[in-house]
Amino acid sequence: MTERVAILISGSGSNMVSLVQSMTGDHPARPVLVLANSETAGGLAKARALGVETAVVDHRRFAGDRAAFEDALHARLTKSGPDILCLAGFMRILTEGFTRCWDGRMLNIHPSLLPKYRGLNTHARAIEAGDGEAGCTVHEVTAALDDGPILGQARVPVRPGDTPDELAARVLVQEHALYPAVLRRFSAGDRTPVFLP
Ligand code: GRF
Repeated sequence: MTERVAILISGSGSNMVSLVQSMTGDHPARPVLVLANSETAGGLAKARALGVETAVVDHRRFAGDRAAFEDALHARLTKSGPDILCLAGFMRILTEGFTRCWDGRMLNIHPSLLPKYRGLNTHARAIEAGDGEAGCTVHEVTAALDDGPILGQARVPVRPGDTPDELAARVLVQEHALYPAVLRRFSAGDRTPVFLP
């Protein structure tokens, strides 16, 4: 059975592109929707160019009413009938009501070696702490921010004199390898974590 995947983005969507491009051939899943919370998300045009249906549910329309925003999100997602949701640079915090609906079916990629550095500015915090390595994590989404069972991690060295942008670029290369590898395994019903390299 082919798993149907919806990908949620807020920005440039480079992880979304790597996920979409991976779902071909004998991959157990296919992309059915790319959804953004803003019309300005650069990834929307990339998704259309890849032939994937897109949608926008603009959180600003709901003027701080998080539950109403999530109801609209849920309604639009349900229309495309996804089995799996992938958050890929989706910059809205989701409440427990929403995460419970998609429990065990929603993944996120976070640019740190969780449980270190939940939240924002992960690369600056890793450099500031003097860490010798950094990386990224794919995890199941639960109500707690950047928490939930870890499905995969990839590590990169932190080099002397690295700026947060330089480190972010090195981590992003690994994100593009890790997220597709995890999604393939997850779509096949296997939740054994993937560790790269
Ligand atoms: C990535 O670093 C991801 O880990 C973080 O947001 C960034 C999104 O980048 N959650 P992109 O939109 O996939 O290019």
